[in-house]
Amino acid sequence: MEQPHTFVQRCHGAIGTQDRMRIFRQRPVTVWLTGLSGAGKSTIAFELERQLVGLGHACYVLDGDNVRHGLARDLGFDRKDRHENIRRVAHVAQLMNDAGLIVITALISPMREDRTMARDIVGRDKFIETYLCAPLDTCVRRDPKGLYAKALSGEISSFTGVSAPYEAPDDPELHIDTAALTPAESVARIFAHLRENSLATASQEAGA
Ligand code: ADX
Repeated sequence: MEQPHTFVQRCHGAIGTQDRMRIFRQRPVTVWLTGLSGAGKSTIAFELERQLVGLGHACYVLDGDNVRHGLARDLGFDRKDRHENIRRVAHVAQLMNDAGLIVITALISPMREDRTMARDIVGRDKFIETYLCAPLDTCVRRDPKGLYAKALSGEISSFTGVSAPYEAPDDPELHIDTAALTPAESVARIFAHLRENSLATASQEAGA
């Protein structure tokens, strides 16, 4: 059967990646944070954004809890819906990168296969998979939203780490132990990686 997009053609404007890199003086990448609920994704994402914007970078956080109030409000937490959530956010990240922005995503994104899909959508050269690693018992102890208590009592089903799986990345660009590091230290690690691998070269590549 014919796909709905079969007769839809892509079109391009006159402005390209190099133009946007010159305007924003940065190389657009997607820092894809993954980890359990309570591992520090939102805290680290927003602090990284604050620091990048403070230095004049154009940057935006796509946070799972926020996205689920709009773009993904029709989705739940079964395998299929999480896959669709990640697919949508990856496409938004790709569009934002295309517009020249640095994107930070904060989604549990628990399945390896879905993160591989996100990497393919965003583009392998732009995707910085960042595993925020904290043991489950640390996250349960932190329980910032009180959701682990509800999951453990059975009030919430399919909760990642309790009644739904989390597959740790095999070979992420960054592996950050958020149980051992403060949020500020974790942000500093990501920042250092960006400086070495993207931000530092952005102005040269953009010919600025
Ligand atoms: S993902 O698995 O599809 O990547 P996402 O990051 O968007 O998840 O949403 C996770 C957030 O939704 C958690 O931070 C938590 O606040 C909330 N939440 C509600 N129900 C669940 C659940 N069953 N499993 C995980 N998170 C849940």
